[in-house]
Amino acid sequence: MRLAGKSALITGAARGIGRAFAEAYILEGARVAIGDINIAQARASAKDLGDAAIAIKMDVTDQSSIESAVDETISAFGQIDILINNAAVFTAAPIVEVARSDYQRVFDINFAGTLFTLQAVARHMIAAGVKGKIINIASQAGRRGEPLVSVYCASKAAVISLTQSAGLNLIKHGINVNAISPGVVDGEHWNGVDAFFAKYEGKAPGQKKKEVGAGVPYGRMGAAEDLTGMAVFLASSEADYIVSQCYNVDGGQWMS
Ligand SMILES: NC(=O)c1ccc[n+]([C@@H]2O[C@H](COP(=O)([O-])OP(=O)(O)OC[C@H]3O[C@@H](n4cnc5c(N)ncnc54)[C@H](O)[C@@H]3O)[C@@H](O)[C@H]2O)c1
Repeated sequence: MRLAGKSALITGAARGIGRAFAEAYILEGARVAIGDINIAQARASAKDLGDAAIAIKMDVTDQSSIESAVDETISAFGQIDILINNAAVFTAAPIVEVARSDYQRVFDINFAGTLFTLQAVARHMIAAGVKGKIINIASQAGRRGEPLVSVYCASKAAVISLTQSAGLNLIKHGINVNAISPGVVDGEHWNGVDAFFAKYEGKAPGQKKKEVGAGVPYGRMGAAEDLTGMAVFLASSEADYIVSQCYNVDGGQWMS
């Protein structure tokens, strides 16, 4: 019960990794607001997770939606102790085919969504005197480029950079900002990634997924549950002295 009495807002937690974070936090004694643009799936997940979970409709590209989601979480739980900026989308295209509209959409969700949700929650934490924890979900894609993944890689590199600056700026308020960098994690998200590679590399559906899994030093793709230990640790008081870091939880994919 390392998070007993704490309350968390997790963006994009209707499914996948965010949902696994919500479940792990509840098992550690926290209450969790599942903030997601897909409210039907958020409600279904909150129902499955029981009384400690609530679903909140939230679009991280919309400032008023961010502010309402923060207000709703505070109304439900009294305050926000933990934020996980997890909502993101993937895209891929050769450089010569990158569309400005796709770049804008991906940066609006993955980077601006993280920045302005972090900002809204940090304002609340500072005003309420909450010594909180903010965890941004980056990616191995943010550690280096990939030939077909320029925009998503850049958006996640930006999340790592933001984590460093925000962590340095907010630690004086007792707010820790850190990040987790997953490698390749099985789930609906990766089915979408696989479809991009089927299109651009002429692979059969499912082939890229098999290849990346076989390439992980640990010997398989990650599961969402492989990430929850780090997410609990970074949200707990055991991580009080950790500032502006990004931890790879990726089966040995990347060293930095
Ligand atoms: N799955 C992987 O292999 C992998 C690897 C590295 C990093 N990540 C990162 O982990 C995080 C979670 O990934 P996942 O695999 O669970 O993805 P996912 O696609 O399964 O879940 C993403 C969630 O975000 C929500 N979302 C999308 N746009 C939104 C918006 N504008 N506002 C609010 N919610 C929105 C979706 O509805 C969905 O529930 C993401 O940040 C992703 O980039 C995933």
